[in-house]
Amino acid sequence: MFDYFPIDSKEFDGPVLVTGSSGCIGSWTVALLERAGVKVHAFDLKIDKRRPSLIMDDAALNNVVWHAGDIVDTAVVKSVVKESGVRAIIHLAALQVPFCRADPVAGALVNVVGTVNVFEAAKACGIARLTYASSVAAYGALENSGAMSTLYGAYKYCNEQTAKVYSEENGLHSVGIRPGVVYGVGRDQGMTSKTTAAILAAAAAESYTVPFSGKASWLFAGEAASAFIRAVAKPHSGAPVFDLNGEYISVEDGMAMLRSLVPNASIEVTGGPLAFPMDKSDDPLRAFVGDYGRMPLDTGIRYTYESFQHSIQTGKINVRDWL
Ligand SMILES: NC(=O)c1ccc[n+]([C@@H]2O[C@H](COP(=O)([O-])OP(=O)(O)OC[C@H]3O[C@@H](n4cnc5c(N)ncnc54)[C@H](O)[C@@H]3O)[C@@H](O)[C@H]2O)c1
Repeated sequence: MFDYFPIDSKEFDGPVLVTGSSGCIGSWTVALLERAGVKVHAFDLKIDKRRPSLIMDDAALNNVVWHAGDIVDTAVVKSVVKESGVRAIIHLAALQVPFCRADPVAGALVNVVGTVNVFEAAKACGIARLTYASSVAAYGALENSGAMSTLYGAYKYCNEQTAKVYSEENGLHSVGIRPGVVYGVGRDQGMTSKTTAAILAAAAAESYTVPFSGKASWLFAGEAASAFIRAVAKPHSGAPVFDLNGEYISVEDGMAMLRSLVPNASIEVTGGPLAFPMDKSDDPLRAFVGDYGRMPLDTGIRYTYESFQHSIQTGKINVRDWL
């Protein structure tokens, strides 16, 4: 599966820091970098290897330097960047839509202040390779976009503006990426995680209802991670922001692919479409950072299903904790 995403360690001039490394995209980012032989420093609220261990063995996990810290703590972030000697940062730590809705202040602290902390640390340490996760939800902060407005999207859009100012005023350049709906092993939280939950339910022979329908983005988690890695494979200038959606296919068609693997899967699809513009092309990002690989949807769903089956059988996933 990792072979879909070619990474050349020779393109990196030192270790890479991944924030939000215990999350879904973070786990894949750490796994892909480690496998390519790039030294990884992983940063998250606590040392939680639950998601990374679904795609990495113990030897690979032990090759990573794990840091526990709060992205909201300016001094901690600065000291990790300084002491680790990283040459690139992939900033993924964030609170997703439901968490920002439930606690707007925490959302602003983690998503906005946390991002400023990363930019400050990068500036202090002369980091020339920096990428961060925005989101398709940022469209909701634009006038007349038709996209759903959320605090999460507002914070992500603020990060894009922050990046622009750091580039213009401080010469600290970055690449912002707006992922659509990520699916795959490790995707278990956030408003759009339900297509992955359906795959897990099928693997566990449980019933499940996906609460949204219609055309949506299907972005394999490894492909998202590979795009972030590619964005720091060399220095860039400015603060460009790119869409990243993977495939644009209906939830119903995705579930039909799942049913072709598991004919008796008890999965329903209900509700309306997600109000985000998920049909935007990934071509500008590919043209800017270079090829980062591509996962066909049927292969991605099959791999995710088989991986979940294996993790359930070996006791790595207790379905009650994940569904
Ligand atoms: N998954 C998607 O479909 C999607 C879509 C668009 C954008 N994004 C963005 O991509 C990034 C990664 O997404 P994901 O799906 O891996 O999310 P995730 O929720 O799985 O992981 C986020 C990680 O951030 C960490 N974190 C939260 N607060 C922190 C803090 N105060 N200090 C340190 N770490 C903290 C969490 O512990 C978690 O491990 C996020 O910025 C997210 O907003 C994701």
